[in-house]
Amino acid sequence: MESEHVALKARKVSFSWEETPLHWVPGDPFTTHTINVLHLLLPAGERWFVHVYKQALPLIRDDRLREDVIGFIGQEAMHSQAHDEVLPHLREQGLDPTPYTAQVDWFFEKLLGDRTLPPGRARRWWLLERVALIAAIEHYTAFLGDWVLNAAELDRRGADPTMLDLLRWHGAEEVEHRSVAFDLFTHVDGSYRRRARTWATAFAAIVFLWQRGSRFFMANDPTLVNGKASLKEFHLSGRRGTLPTTGAMLKSIPRYLSRAYHPSHEFSTAQAVAYLAGSPAALAAQKAEQSAKGVA
Ligand SMILES: [Fe+2]
Ligand SMILES: [Fe+2]
Repeated sequence: MESEHVALKARKVSFSWEETPLHWVPGDPFTTHTINVLHLLLPAGERWFVHVYKQALPLIRDDRLREDVIGFIGQEAMHSQAHDEVLPHLREQGLDPTPYTAQVDWFFEKLLGDRTLPPGRARRWWLLERVALIAAIEHYTAFLGDWVLNAAELDRRGADPTMLDLLRWHGAEEVEHRSVAFDLFTHVDGSYRRRARTWATAFAAIVFLWQRGSRFFMANDPTLVNGKASLKEFHLSGRRGTLPTTGAMLKSIPRYLSRAYHPSHEFSTAQAVAYLAGSPAALAAQKAEQSAKGVA
C-alpha cells in the first residue's frame, strides 16, 4: 500500500553467541532445531537472491522499484551473513552443519545457478523463472517473519534473547520488504502460470529441505540419544505456539495463488518498523553508524 511504503535500508547488525545455549528454546530441542534450519538454508539462499537480483536490475524500468530492489539486496546480504555467523557457534557445541550446508550450497549454486546459457531467450527465461521463485519464497519469509514477531510463546518459555532478536530483526525486515520480490516479478513478467508453477516448486523445495534439515540436526545433536524429527512433533509444536501451525501454513497457499494477491494485503509494516526501532541489534547498528559518521 502506498501509505505503507518505507525506504529500505540494510541495518549492519552483529550478534555475539557465547551465551546462547545449544537448546536455545529451553528443554525443547525439536523447536530449537526446526528453527535452526534457517541458519542452514538462509546463508546460501539469500546470497542466491542477491546474485539473481543483480542480474535482474537492468530489466527494471521504474526508479522507485529499482531503489526498493537495491534496498532489498542490501538487507538480504546482511541476513545471509548474520545467519552464517551462527554456524561456528553450533560447531563449537558439537553440531557440525557442514554435511548439510554442502548440499544446500549445491542446490543454490548448481541447480539454481546461472547455467551455461547463451545470451538471449533461454537466458532470459531462466532469469524470469528465478525471479518468480524468489517471489514465492518471499511469501514464506514474510509469513515466518510475521509469525516470529508474534510468537509470544517463545518468550514465555525463556528462549534465548539474542537468538530471538536475530529472528525478529530478520523477520521484521522480511515483513518490511515483503512486497519487493512480488513487485519485481510483476514488473518483469507477472504471468499467472509462471507464478503458480514456481510456487509449487518453491513450496516443495522448502518442505523437502526443511524436514531434511531438522532431521539432520536432531540426528546429529550430541546431547540427544536417537533424536528424531517428525511431522507429528511439528504439528504439536504448532499447537503449543512454539512453531507456526500447520493450519496457518496451509491457509497461506490459496492466498498466494489468488489472482488478487499482493503482499501488502497481509501482515503489518507498522509492527515490523516498531520492532526494528527497539531491536537491541538494530539499535547497536544504528549507534555504530552514527558514531562512524561523527568521526568522519
Ligand atoms: Fe532475509
Ligand atoms: Fe526477504
